[in-house]
Amino acid sequence: VYGGYTKNRVGSLAQLKKAGELDFSYPDESALCKAVYVNNEVKAYSIICTHKGCPTIYNKQKAMFECPCHFTKYDAKNNGQMVIGQATGALPRVLLEISGDDIFAIGVDGLIFGRINNTV
Ligand code: FES
Repeated sequence: VYGGYTKNRVGSLAQLKKAGELDFSYPDESALCKAVYVNNEVKAYSIICTHKGCPTIYNKQKAMFECPCHFTKYDAKNNGQMVIGQATGALPRVLLEISGDDIFAIGVDGLIFGRINNTV
């Protein structure tokens, strides 16, 4: 666990594999995140667009997080990298720990839009 972050259970691995996506909040209630199961891997991101803070929408078929505000797209398979659009950075990646069927969030790599520190 990294500075200031708590270890929070976000859900079940079996359920994520079945549904392909899982919504949660981390590191606090107002920080919307989503875990996805893609290419046999679990990844998780802040869904808040790094351009101006709109919540992105996950396109499961394309494994892309798509922003409805100015159409930025982020690749869920490739660490949330921006593929096209107005933003300048990738989606912040939620660091995970998987233990049996439990998925835990343990930190965030990258600054969530609108914050000066993710955990304040
Ligand atoms: Fe997402 Fe502008 S807020 S592209």
